[in-house]
Amino acid sequence: MKVLAFETSCDETSAAVVDGFNVLSNITHTQLEHADFGGVVPEIASRAQVRLILPITRKALKVANVELQDIEGVAVTKGPGLIGSLLVGIVFAKTISQLIKKPIVGVNHLEGHIFSAFISHKELEPPLLVLLVSGGHTELVWMQDYFDYRLLGVTLDDAAGEAFDKVAKLLGLPYPGGPQIDKIARSGRPDFVKFPRANPSGLNFSFSGLKTAVLYYLRKQTDEFIIQHKADIAASFQEAVVDSLLIKTLKAIEIHGADKLAVVGGVSLNSRLRTKFQEELSNEVSLYFPEPKYCGDNAAMIGAAGHLRIINGYVDGMDLTAYPNLQL
Ligand code: KG4
Ligand code: ZN
Repeated sequence: MKVLAFETSCDETSAAVVDGFNVLSNITHTQLEHADFGGVVPEIASRAQVRLILPITRKALKVANVELQDIEGVAVTKGPGLIGSLLVGIVFAKTISQLIKKPIVGVNHLEGHIFSAFISHKELEPPLLVLLVSGGHTELVWMQDYFDYRLLGVTLDDAAGEAFDKVAKLLGLPYPGGPQIDKIARSGRPDFVKFPRANPSGLNFSFSGLKTAVLYYLRKQTDEFIIQHKADIAASFQEAVVDSLLIKTLKAIEIHGADKLAVVGGVSLNSRLRTKFQEELSNEVSLYFPEPKYCGDNAAMIGAAGHLRIINGYVDGMDLTAYPNLQL
């Protein structure tokens, strides 16, 4: 089933054509205009979505080599995300669905991230454990079946990606900071500073204490020292995040007897996370990371989840709207 999908929940404008879990095209534009502000400005993001959605969609159809008439269903992110950005995608998707008289389905962005693992690993099937690590979320999810999720643990404060972005800012690195820390940490010593590994109750996470620990550490150092040891500090911080994620994931594997683990979301791109999870967990579980192009926000993952929803009869009407705080 050929589905035209849209993802406009934040500062990416993405359109894709998928045929089941096969991606025929996946065109994503990341707005760079937020860099000057050190974070995403919602008003700028939604205006850019309006400007970009049509050209990005045209390109997605062209690259997939399909006409609008070939599309059999429409999928769009309904939340969580920025209300203005979400509404642009939703109104656009509803218009196309009416135009071609084909069903539409709203997809939870977090479910979309989980389906990125199914795009990259066609053999993968539930039940499985999922670690979802992005700029807005850090969650351990038990996926019993398609569309059947149980939340096992969440961050009690900052998301892992948010911690990366905030610490990058403290180190004077540009936004978004996650990839920057990953890059400079490669030449740093992860044992240079022993930052705390928070261990809140159950399978929950916490990253705000770590961010504060980095802040207090930096305040005690001279500018020269920070410049000289930037890579060491970045590597030490990154190691603390990866360890915190690893400790709870291992605990979840043991408690729930998981034999498959998918790690998804923007932070799953992190090279140290990938290496350390492989080293520490590959004897415990079969480990699945999406291909890098499907880790960040993209419409292909929304299309993959959307197609399965449509063929299972989950379709929406013209009252489909945005849910900025939607949970899984
Ligand atoms: O999933 P995503 O693209 O958007 C959200 O749904 O939030 O995740 C974006 C987050 C940002 O915080 C970004 O800094 C982080 O993913 N990120 C990384 C890396 N690449 C992206 N964090 C650590 N290492 C990376 N290589
Ligand atoms: Zn995301």
